[in-house]
Amino acid sequence: MEVIISKTYDAMCKEAAEIVAQIVNTKPDAVLGLATGSTPLGLYKELARMHREEGLDFAQVTTFNLDEYVGLHPNHEQSYHYFMNENFFKHVNIPSRNIHIPSGTTSNYAAFCEWYEQRIEDCGGIDVQILGIGSDGHIAFNEPTSSLGSRTRIKTLAKQTIDDNARFFAKASDVPVYAITMGVGTILEARKLVLMANGKKKATAVAQAVEGPVTSMCTASALQLHEDATVFIDEDCASELKMVDYYKWIQANMPGAPKK
Ligand code: F6R
Repeated sequence: MEVIISKTYDAMCKEAAEIVAQIVNTKPDAVLGLATGSTPLGLYKELARMHREEGLDFAQVTTFNLDEYVGLHPNHEQSYHYFMNENFFKHVNIPSRNIHIPSGTTSNYAAFCEWYEQRIEDCGGIDVQILGIGSDGHIAFNEPTSSLGSRTRIKTLAKQTIDDNARFFAKASDVPVYAITMGVGTILEARKLVLMANGKKKATAVAQAVEGPVTSMCTASALQLHEDATVFIDEDCASELKMVDYYKWIQANMPGAPKK
């Protein structure tokens, strides 16, 4: 796992955007896995700027979002459909037929989840999956004790996640209790994983994910099982990592390993 520590949130988002842009530039029909929440907002802003000012072209890109609240209509202001449209899709040129977000209003969740998994496969798999992390260590809505082999399904949100996300709703009781989410197993099949986190509030979760044991109690720790995972964090978020000097030394020196 690679850990990139940036001085500020903005610098962190620029670093992550560079990775996404590089993938889209080398593979114009790339498949992007996307996340919602506060953390990737700066990433989407930077990608939209690159599109506007540098011609970064999303015309052939396909996207799959990680999750959606069960019961929220796509027009609901707190739905992830609404979030993605407002914060990213309406600022770039991804054809709407190429955009996939789990449905929070389907009449058959089991069939939808199966279709979503199949659709990812039919599109050739995800080239890069963007991830945030919950303060309880979740990725997507894979709450503690989610199987590390789990697939897209309905998940009950943990109290900590409901409390964390209450800031977006009028009151905590308005936060949906269920979400439809890609599983940890689904996420691990992406060719590259990019996890972003900032601020002291995520420092414990990030330390557990990066340096703790691989455990379903912190589903982000499953990144340790992936051969190409990069964690982008700011200084505050790095405050509980034991190996900070090592990560920074690598970042500064980029030592080239012998090829043979
Ligand atoms: C959202 C998602 C969640 C968030 C996580 C952090 O699509 O998958 O796992 O990434 O809850 O949310 P923020 O960024 O709001 O702290």
